[in-house]
Amino acid sequence: MKGIDGFFSEYEGRWYARFARGLRGGTFVEVGSWKGRSTSFIGAICNANGTRLVCIDHWLGSNDMLAARYAATLAVEDVQATFRRNMADLGITVEVLAEPSTVAASRFEPASVDRVFLDGSHDGPSVTDDLVVWMDRLKPEGILAGHDYDDKHAELCAAVDAFAAERALVVRRGPRSVYWLEGRRPEA
Ligand SMILES: C[S@@+](CC[C@H](N)C(=O)[O-])C[C@H]1O[C@@H](n2cnc3c(N)ncnc32)[C@H](O)[C@@H]1O
Repeated sequence: MKGIDGFFSEYEGRWYARFARGLRGGTFVEVGSWKGRSTSFIGAICNANGTRLVCIDHWLGSNDMLAARYAATLAVEDVQATFRRNMADLGITVEVLAEPSTVAASRFEPASVDRVFLDGSHDGPSVTDDLVVWMDRLKPEGILAGHDYDDKHAELCAAVDAFAAERALVVRRGPRSVYWLEGRRPEA
């Protein structure tokens, strides 16, 4: 959506909308929402499809190369309030968990989530933590995807590649920096 400031291209947004559209009912988790730009591409779709949409963000910025930029904005703006206002303006109903991603993950049963999209902190340890906790929350037929898998985010790519190799998963590429992990098989 052009109106919301953030870190998501229109092109990626169209892919993200398709990612959400493929799900009826179920639970969609977005980690890292900032002001709601990425969420704006999927919110109405999740609402129309009866999908529970949960956005997770501690609104404390990140441990990655954008840390200073987040800190500068957070010093002068209540970004969580901006997120909530943006969602309300778009008529999007969303559950918000304003806490660290790994804490939020503990609120979900194992194998209970249908779609996860990771766009939190892009440093290697945070990416690995997110992959480990959220893959465990994903249903066997669920899909985990994420943002910023590109040559500007070498640490993120290395963490995703290492996790995929360890779990015998394949990293698939969407438009620009979107990726998803393929290779899980529904449990018998
Ligand atoms: C790249 S921004 C998200 C951009 C957003 N998806 C958009 O479309 O503009 C990363 C966000 O992740 C949040 N974040 C970073 N580490 C986190 C963590 N461990 N738990 C929860 N949120 C986190 C930050 O507060 C920030 O809002």
